[in-house]
Amino acid sequence: MAVSVTRRLTATFGAELSGIDIGGHADAEAIQAVQSAWSEHKLLLFREQSTDEAALVDFSRKFGELEIHVRTEYLSPDHPEILYVSNITRDGRRIGILADTEVGWHYDQIYLPRPAVGSLLCAVILPPSGGNTEFADMAAAYAALPADIKSTLAGKRAIQSYEAFNRAYSVPTSEEQKRRTPDIEQPLVRTHPVTGTRALYLCPGMTTRIVGMDERASREMLDFLFEWTVRPEFVYSHTWRQGDCLMWDNACTMHRRDPFDQGHQRLMKRTTILPSPDVAVPV
Ligand code: SIN
Repeated sequence: MAVSVTRRLTATFGAELSGIDIGGHADAEAIQAVQSAWSEHKLLLFREQSTDEAALVDFSRKFGELEIHVRTEYLSPDHPEILYVSNITRDGRRIGILADTEVGWHYDQIYLPRPAVGSLLCAVILPPSGGNTEFADMAAAYAALPADIKSTLAGKRAIQSYEAFNRAYSVPTSEEQKRRTPDIEQPLVRTHPVTGTRALYLCPGMTTRIVGMDERASREMLDFLFEWTVRPEFVYSHTWRQGDCLMWDNACTMHRRDPFDQGHQRLMKRTTILPSPDVAVPV
C-alpha cells in the first residue's frame, strides 16, 4: 500500500499517514514518501503500529543516525537507541524519564551542540485519560511575528539549559551527565537544514537568556515569545491511542505533555534522530 496523507492534524501543520508499517518492511519508496511528508508537515502520525523495539530502531535509522540519550538510566536494556518515557517502576527503580507530571515546552536536545532533528515517540501503555502531547509550529510562529520583533531577533543567540529543564520537570542528573550537558548558546531563529525555512529556536523549558540583551529586556522578550509561540493557531494537541507513533521535526517544532493520574501506568518508547554531520550545527 502506498504511503499517503489521510488527514491534516491542523490547518497549518501535522498529518496522519497511512501505508506505513513500522514492524514490517518499509521499502525505499515508502521511506522517501515519509521523508518528504515529514519535511512538509513537520509532524507525522502513524496509527496502529507495532512497538517492537528492533523494528522501531530499524525504521528510525532510515532517517539518520540515532542518539544514545545522556539519561542512560532510562534506556531500553536491549536497544540503547530507545529512551523510555514512563512512570513505571520495576524492582524499585523507575524505568523511564519524565514520570507522570506536566512536562513543559521544549525542543529535544536544544542544549547539545548537535541537537536532534527528529524524534519518533510511540505509545505502548496509556492511562485512561491525560498525558496528551502538544506540539507548536515554530516556523508558523516565526513567520507571523511583527517585523520589528523579527529585526530585533536577527542574529541573536540564546542560552539553552538542560539543568533548568531538569529542575522544573525532571530529576537531577549525575555529575557525569551534567559535565556532558553544560549550558550552551544556540541561534534564536534557526534555518531548517532541509527546507531552509526559518523557525524560532527557543523554548520555555530550556531557554534562559538572550545573549547581548540586558537581563530585563531579555526576560521581557522571552516572555513575549513564549506566550506568542503557544497561541492556539500554532498548537496541536494529541490524544494518544495505543499503537500511535508520532514523528516530529525537531528543528521547527517544540512539544510539551499534560500530566496524568499517577495511579495509572504510561509507557512510551522514543528514538531520537540526529542530523547528518554537514548540517549538525544549528544556524
Ligand atoms: C517527550 O517530551 O519526549 C515526551 C512527551 C510525552 O511523554 O508525551
